[in-house]
Amino acid sequence: MHFRSSLLGAIIFALTNLSTTTEAQQKAAAPAESQTFKAKFDYCKTCHGIQGQGFRGSYPMPRLAGQQPEYLVNQLQAFIERRRNNPVMFNVAHVLSPSMEKALAEQFNGLNPKPLDGTSPKADVTEGKRIYLEGIQKSDVPPCASCHGDDAKGRDAFPRLAGQLHDYVYKKLTNWDKERGQDKSNPDNSAIMQPIAHNLSEAQIKAVAAYVSQLE
Ligand code: HEC
Ligand code: HEC
Repeated sequence: MHFRSSLLGAIIFALTNLSTTTEAQQKAAAPAESQTFKAKFDYCKTCHGIQGQGFRGSYPMPRLAGQQPEYLVNQLQAFIERRRNNPVMFNVAHVLSPSMEKALAEQFNGLNPKPLDGTSPKADVTEGKRIYLEGIQKSDVPPCASCHGDDAKGRDAFPRLAGQLHDYVYKKLTNWDKERGQDKSNPDNSAIMQPIAHNLSEAQIKAVAAYVSQLE
């Protein structure tokens, strides 16, 4: 792990806070087996794919399968609090109870379909792999692997990128400032990615998006 210690402090703080709530939530009724839960899980899958593999339409629906539960719950909270800007997911998320969020996150984490799409034919996967593992020193871009893991499966609040749709990854990295960290009075983990997304060129984003999208 190469990130700076102040960032690490912020992450540990966020993680500690999160695990306290999670323990409390676990003591509340676990809805994983209830009909309400199944209906909700099915509803998520109408957009995110029957195995949580994502969906490629005019608007890419991200893969949730195998995603880190902590990251997933963090994002649902970010949509609800409008720190992350997305009207569709605000409507979906704001009705979820904390125990339902946790249960859905655990279920999606347990799914393991193959990556949905092959790589984009124009993108340079070899260059993407180099950026992922080594970073780009001259533009101050650390290796993605130092936070997202060598296998891109993520950990805790660091999301999995393996198998994520390349057009979704492309969109997120290109629009970071407009979508994430939208409540300046309530900064969150999106600040860690902001300078990284900012320092990548469009061609570099395409390359790294193509690389991670084909990882199982
Ligand atoms: C009507 C379609 C739709 C439904 C239903 C839906 N989602 Fe989404 N979801 C989206 C879209 C579109 C995005 C991408 C938003 C963006 O581009 O930032 C998304 C993004 C997400 C993300 C962020 C993923 C990431 O990698 O950061 C999570 C988490 C998520 N949805 C969870 C859920 C859960 C849980 C449910 C069911 C309760 C659900 N979604 C139902 C459309 C939907
Ligand atoms: C210093 C640690 C760190 C490094 C290095 C890093 N990331 Fe991230 N990344 C994060 C964190 C933390 C998040 C989650 C942000 C949040 O919760 O809002 C994230 C989120 C993302 C997302 C959004 C995922 C989603 O599902 O919406 C993408 C895409 C991403 N990173 C790509 C990359 C790429 C590509 C690189 C290398 C060029 C990279 N990251 C390097 C910490 C890092």
